Amino acid sequence: MTATRRAVVGAGLAAAGAGAFPARARDRAMTASGFWWGTATSAHQIEGNNVNSDFWLAEHVKPSAFVEPSGDACDAYHRYAEDIALAKRLGFNAHRFGIEWSRIEPEPGKFSIAELDHYARVLDVCAEHGLAPMVTLSHWTVPRWFAARGGFEEPDSPELFARFAEKVGQHLGSRMAAATTFNEANIVRLLQLSGLIKPPVMKIIGAMFDACAKASGTTRFANVLFADREKSEAQFVKAHDLAVAALKAGPGSYPIGVTLTMQAIQGEGEGHRADAVKAELYGPWLDVACRADFIGVQTYTRFRVGPEGILPPPQGAERTGAGYEFYPQALGETIRDAWELTGRPIYVTENGIATNDDTRRVAYIDAALAAMRDAQKAGADVRGYFHWSLLDNFEWTAGYAQHFGLIQVDRTSFKRTPKPSAIHLGKIAQAARR
Ligand code: FCB
Repeated sequence: MTATRRAVVGAGLAAAGAGAFPARARDRAMTASGFWWGTATSAHQIEGNNVNSDFWLAEHVKPSAFVEPSGDACDAYHRYAEDIALAKRLGFNAHRFGIEWSRIEPEPGKFSIAELDHYARVLDVCAEHGLAPMVTLSHWTVPRWFAARGGFEEPDSPELFARFAEKVGQHLGSRMAAATTFNEANIVRLLQLSGLIKPPVMKIIGAMFDACAKASGTTRFANVLFADREKSEAQFVKAHDLAVAALKAGPGSYPIGVTLTMQAIQGEGEGHRADAVKAELYGPWLDVACRADFIGVQTYTRFRVGPEGILPPPQGAERTGAGYEFYPQALGETIRDAWELTGRPIYVTENGIATNDDTRRVAYIDAALAAMRDAQKAGADVRGYFHWSLLDNFEWTAGYAQHFGLIQVDRTSFKRTPKPSAIHLGKIAQAARR
């Protein structure tokens, strides 16, 4: 893999010079003080009542792999202005959030202007507060109708996604500072490789999707997070490419990237398979990133790889609330990988820790940022850091038990309370801009 990749990287590096971003977008990025400091969120995890989405249905059928439904989430659909103002007060100058396809196109081909206007208002509030908005087109959720017709397994699915992207670009393009198509486009590869989902859970997931299909009056229901890679990845890549073209054809001029789940992959012992695991984790997505304006790096931990494959964390290693090893220095390694393997400008689009001990979040942030700075000193072109996440939110199948937020959210009053880590990272962001 490395030889081919290097050839691609060479071409990527040539293109990645000053001209890599459209001039206007670069200027806009510069007005937000060059380096973007922000937090990352996703629509389904914070908005609440995302009733037309595939996940909403999956959360409510029996059996369900979700420990609880998303419900009102953080009610950010209504409270976005408060959240953006709070992010600004904390010291951030950028904001990553998702728009929800299932709200914008609740029925096939029926686009809601009112919902597009909703996201236009979110973007306007970002602008009022001087936060550069980076928009995610699809953070795993799809409209229920789209899943019920086979999701990205269907040959015409790329065109359907591109049609959505075109509407978004037309309506919102002039307000966006950056966009990404898919969140962690290679997530299925990570789940398969890491064995994070055990066979009994896989069985429940299968039964859950059967129940979703039945409830939708169809024979299959294909979701993004638990997709059948063999059947859907080629369409997924095409959907990305068509969506980029659709956005670029619309108003505005802003960089468009793809985000990947990138964990540090470390070889252990003679005959380790780290290179093979890396190749398997990224598959076609490094080539996709090579032709994008930037790559979004999303890092949480490391995987050590022996001759037989991925090893468990070392004995006695600290674990985060999500179960994986506390290893913030992974971010330096993944930034170096992203730079070496693609040569594209980099945004850290997610990095964070689930914990109830906020002092560990502060320690995680400090170590991750130190590793990021080392990678920058070594030459990596990093243009922003978005911490996952602004708010404690709906952590997919784990529900509300895992706390990734810089800000605590009361589950019934929705009151936001910044944690010391929020103040800490906000101060770093402010100091870096002085
Ligand atoms: C990432 C997801 C994000 C959140 C964090 C903890 O893989 O993109 O939505 O779940 O993990």
